[in-house]
Amino acid sequence: MKVAFFQFDPKLGKIDYNLKKIEKSLSRIKNLNLLVLPELCNSGYNFRDTKEAFKFAEEIPHGKSSQFLISLAKQKKCFIVAGINEKDGSTKLTIKGKKLYNSAVLVGPKGYIGTYRKLHLFYKEKDIFEPGNLGLPIFRINGVKVGILVCFDWRFPEAWRILALKGAQIIAHPSNLIVPKLSFRALPGHAIVNRIFIVTSDRVGVERKLKFAGRSMIVDPDGNILAQASADKEELQVAEINPKLANLKQVNSKNHIFKDRRLEIYQEKNLLVK
Ligand code: ACM
Repeated sequence: MKVAFFQFDPKLGKIDYNLKKIEKSLSRIKNLNLLVLPELCNSGYNFRDTKEAFKFAEEIPHGKSSQFLISLAKQKKCFIVAGINEKDGSTKLTIKGKKLYNSAVLVGPKGYIGTYRKLHLFYKEKDIFEPGNLGLPIFRINGVKVGILVCFDWRFPEAWRILALKGAQIIAHPSNLIVPKLSFRALPGHAIVNRIFIVTSDRVGVERKLKFAGRSMIVDPDGNILAQASADKEELQVAEINPKLANLKQVNSKNHIFKDRRLEIYQEKNLLVK
């Protein structure tokens, strides 16, 4: 299976420009199975407030960006995970009601597959978006189980673990990382302890003085970095992976990383020290 990230510099509020850029990146590539794009890759990230974010938000899957990605996925016969600035179409839309989500859509050759809404909002995102309310779904793409997390979700080992326990072989991780040192050390750790593949698609560039960290990566279940981008260039990188390797949770003849968990101990209440 061929997986890839496209690390680029989305322009704030320039949805047409950003979608064209994605299309162009794919024009050079053949036989790709899964492409992961950055967080909020249709709209840009550093909004002043909800009102501004709302202006560039779209419904999933009826909005322009989802529809564009669906046609691209059909044309290229591949699956695409993309960070989308989502306005919830199922409720009455009001800016005051703040029905905006920092989401990721999964589409494929047959159209829309599903949505993940970022569970753990970072810093000022809390003033703009609602925390995700769709849980931690697993999606199947040609028999391969894929979970999605978005950027700052990297700080929460529970989310990675739950997806792995649900059978995720690959976790697609659209990102707009800002503090590079910590996350890039943590990601191989999440891959090792859960024995999963991770495709982190980060962005580059500067938006209103906020600099993004680049260094997108593809990691295997042993924590090996199969592909890694620069800190500041737009790049599409591909890795060939065997998702079945993520099914091997038995690490020696006596240890299975899931079956050896001591659930009766972990269930102790009130663990959080005040
Ligand atoms: C982040 O969650 N965009 C840092």
